[in-house]
Amino acid sequence: MTDTMRAAGISRFGGDVGPLELDAPRGPGPDEVLVEVRAAGVGNWDDIARNGEWDLGVRPPMVLGVEAAGVVTAVGSAVREVAVGDRVSVHSAPLRTQGAWAERFLVGAAEVAVVPEELRFDAAAAFAVPALTADQTLRDAVDVRAGETLLVHGAGGVTGRLLVALGAHYGARVIATGGPAGVETLTALGAAQVLSYSDTSWPDTARELGVDCAVNAVPGQAELVLTTLRDGGRLATITSDPPAATRGITPVEVYVAPDGPRLARLLGLLAAGTLPLEVGARYSLDQAAAALAHVRRGTHGTAIVVTSQ
Ligand SMILES: NC(=O)c1ccc[n+]([C@@H]2O[C@H](COP(=O)([O-])OP(=O)(O)OC[C@H]3O[C@@H](n4cnc5c(N)ncnc54)[C@H](OP(=O)(O)O)[C@@H]3O)[C@@H](O)[C@H]2O)c1
Repeated sequence: MTDTMRAAGISRFGGDVGPLELDAPRGPGPDEVLVEVRAAGVGNWDDIARNGEWDLGVRPPMVLGVEAAGVVTAVGSAVREVAVGDRVSVHSAPLRTQGAWAERFLVGAAEVAVVPEELRFDAAAAFAVPALTADQTLRDAVDVRAGETLLVHGAGGVTGRLLVALGAHYGARVIATGGPAGVETLTALGAAQVLSYSDTSWPDTARELGVDCAVNAVPGQAELVLTTLRDGGRLATITSDPPAATRGITPVEVYVAPDGPRLARLLGLLAAGTLPLEVGARYSLDQAAAALAHVRRGTHGTAIVVTSQ
């Protein structure tokens, strides 16, 4: 008899999200790990995968989801990073068999990180993609250094908040753009100054403050952020909208990549309270469409998860 599992995803690219009943993943290959999923993250990027604009290497019927946390139930013969019974978090892409919105998730051993015991599965699940994105942007793309002035545009989101807290952790003077409700939160995360994005003069104010490097997290606004930078500054955008190079600035496009060891380090910072991750709502796998709709409506910096329990 074939082993099946409950999951959520799409039966065609661009179609609605719904429950799926699929074959459970095969056993792990030498470098793979099978995870019993306790929670999986839901983000804007899942809508991009739903539309077929993020090629995860799987065609419908396709389980969505690229981040999860759970318990390791089997490991491949060459796996040394984790063992059966470990609590892990993972961002995986391209997908080995299917996505994370499921009871089981087959991933690469190099993609997983052990979760510190004080962290809950739902926070550990929803942390993987935004935290890796923030760190890869700040360290690899703009290479922010202590004492520099860093602008984070779109700081109110889940990834945005992590960019602010990590930028401050790396010693930058962080200028953040946020909504009126975000000033207190962003200041507590380490922003030296919060500029209201509803005031259209915020780019002028930022320019006057002297921006060395900047990260854009608002779709279509990298060009605007570029105007705030000093000549020779560094710009990264995470919303696929890099402007042309100008004034000694060569904008960099960032796409999150799996990295288990880096995720382990970042989970340590989450457990220590240095980084934030607030879970705003939990949905069952059967309600995955509602979870994604919630993300589309906006969550004001809180993360959304689906669980199979
Ligand atoms: N390239 C990658 O690998 C990658 C990885 C992760 C995320 N992303 C993308 O990066 C973007 C941000 O991610 P996220 O996780 O932070 O999203 P999110 O949690 O949905 O947050 C988006 C935030 O943007 C803020 N915002 C909306 N309009 C704004 C404006 N005009 N000016 C300034 N801020 C504005 C809102 O803040 P308020 O609540 O304060 O209004 C909102 O909370 C998304 O488009 C996501 O798809 C890309």
